Amino acid sequence: MKGINFDFNNMFSFNVGGENGVDEKELSALSYSVNEAHNHLSRVLSDKSSRVKIGLEWTRLPFQDAKTVRDIQKLGDEIAGKYENVVSLGIGGSYLGLKAAQDALCPPYYNDFAGVRKKRPRVYFEGNNLDPDTLSVLLKNLNPKKTFVIVISKSGETTETKTAFITVREWLKKGAGKHYGRQIFAITDPESGSLRSEVDAEQRQDALSFRNSSLMKGVGGRFSELNMGLLHLAVTGVKIGDVLKGAADMHKACTRQELSSNPAYMYAALHTILYRMKGKDIAIIMPFCETLKSTADWYIQMLAESLGKKYARKVKKLPDGSEQWANDEGRAVNVGRTPISARGTNDLHSIQQNNIEGMNNKAVTFIRVGKFRSEIKVPAGNGILSGKKFSGLIGLAQEATEWALVRESRPNCTIIVPEISAYYWGGLIYFFEMATAFEGELLDINAFDQPGVEGYKNYMYYKLGKPGLNKAVAEEIRKNPLVKNPKFII
Ligand code: PA5
Repeated sequence: MKGINFDFNNMFSFNVGGENGVDEKELSALSYSVNEAHNHLSRVLSDKSSRVKIGLEWTRLPFQDAKTVRDIQKLGDEIAGKYENVVSLGIGGSYLGLKAAQDALCPPYYNDFAGVRKKRPRVYFEGNNLDPDTLSVLLKNLNPKKTFVIVISKSGETTETKTAFITVREWLKKGAGKHYGRQIFAITDPESGSLRSEVDAEQRQDALSFRNSSLMKGVGGRFSELNMGLLHLAVTGVKIGDVLKGAADMHKACTRQELSSNPAYMYAALHTILYRMKGKDIAIIMPFCETLKSTADWYIQMLAESLGKKYARKVKKLPDGSEQWANDEGRAVNVGRTPISARGTNDLHSIQQNNIEGMNNKAVTFIRVGKFRSEIKVPAGNGILSGKKFSGLIGLAQEATEWALVRESRPNCTIIVPEISAYYWGGLIYFFEMATAFEGELLDINAFDQPGVEGYKNYMYYKLGKPGLNKAVAEEIRKNPLVKNPKFII
C-alpha cells in the first residue's frame, strides 16, 4: 500500500547474525510453502461459501457499499447530536478494535476536554471486565437521560457483556423513563443468542426501541472492527469511508502473490522462520506513539487467539467444492508466538531491559509514525535539546532502540506509517489481519476459532448452574476440581 512501509532489514542474519536472524537462503527455502499458502488462501477467498464457513468474510469488509456507510455515519451523527455520553459494552473482539480506533483516531484526552471532542459525546467502554468498581463509578456519575448505550456481542451470550448490559439497562430504565429503550443500540448476530431475542421482543413493542444491526456472517469477533466498530467510528466523527479505503488499498497489497511485494506475507514468513528455526517465540509489538498503544493491544488479541492453537488444521472439502476447517485432534501441535504489547518511549524504561539482555527469544515489531498531528519544539537555552522537535526526538529514540537491539543480535522490524489518519489506520489494522491469516496458513492451523477460551466459561457456567451445560463438560469439571492444599498457601 502506498504510504505504509515495512522495513525488515533487522530480521536478517547480515544484521543480527545467523543464529538469530533469517538467512536469505532460508527465506528462499520457504518459497514453496509461501506459494502453496498463497494459492490455498486465494482459492478460499474467491469462494463466498468457503469464506463464510471458515470465517474469512472479513476480507470483504473494506468493500462495503456507500449507502451502508452513509446510513451508519448518519446514525452516528444523530446519536452525537443528542447525547453527551455513550457507553459501549463489549469484550474481546467486541471491544478492542473500538478502543484502538478511539485512541488512534480521536485526539488524546478526548473524553476529558470538550474543546478536543468538538461537540461529540464522551465514549466509555464497559462490559469488558467483571470488576464492579469501574461500572459503579461510571453509573454514579453519568446522567442516564444524556447517555446512549451501544451493546455489542456477536454471540449475545458473553457473561461480561451480558452482566454489564443487564445492569446498565436497569439503570437506564430507572433514570431515563419509559422510552429508555430508545437510548439503546444493539449489535449482534442476526438470528441467535439471548441479546437477539431480547432486541426482537423489544422491537415488536416499539420500533424505535432497541434499534439494532446484524453482524455479517462469517466474520469472527476479532476480525470485525470494520463491521461492529463502524457505529462507534461514526459517533466519534471519524469518516468511515476513509478507514475502509485504507483497508481496501491494503487488501490489494496483501493479496499479491509475490512475497517480495506483499508486506503481510513477508511479515508472516519472516516471523515463521524466526519462530520455527531460531526460537523467537515472543512477539513484542511496540509502537513509538502513545495513541497506537491500544492498537498494539488489539493486535495482541489478534495474534494470541488466532495463532495460539493446540491442534493442527483439518481441511475438509465439501461436495459443493467449498471448504470447511476443523481441528485435527489427532495432531496436537501447541503452536503460537506469545504476544506482548509495549510502547515507546515509555517502555524503554521497563520491558526494554529484558528485550536487550534477557533471553534472546523475542522478535520486536516497531510502529513508527512519520508525522504527528501536533508538534512541540523544546525552547532555546536547553543545551542539546534546544530547538529540537518532539517528533524528531521520538523518531531518534526509535532508531536508537533498533540500533541497541541489533548490537545485541536481537531481530526486529518496523512498520512505518506516514501519519495516524483514518485512511492509514484502516490500512494498518488490515495489514495485521492479513499477516495473521497468512501466518495461520504457514502454521497449518485454523486461525479463525478460539476453542481455548471455552474452558473458563464452562467452569463459570458449571458453578453458576447454567441450564443445558454439556453433560460431558460438567462431568469433567466435577471430577477434576482445583486442588488447594493450605500447606501451599502462606
Ligand atoms: O474474536 C473473538 O471471536 C472473541 O474474542 C470475541 O470477540 C469475544 O469472545 C466476545 O464475544 P461476543 O462478541 O460473542 O460477546
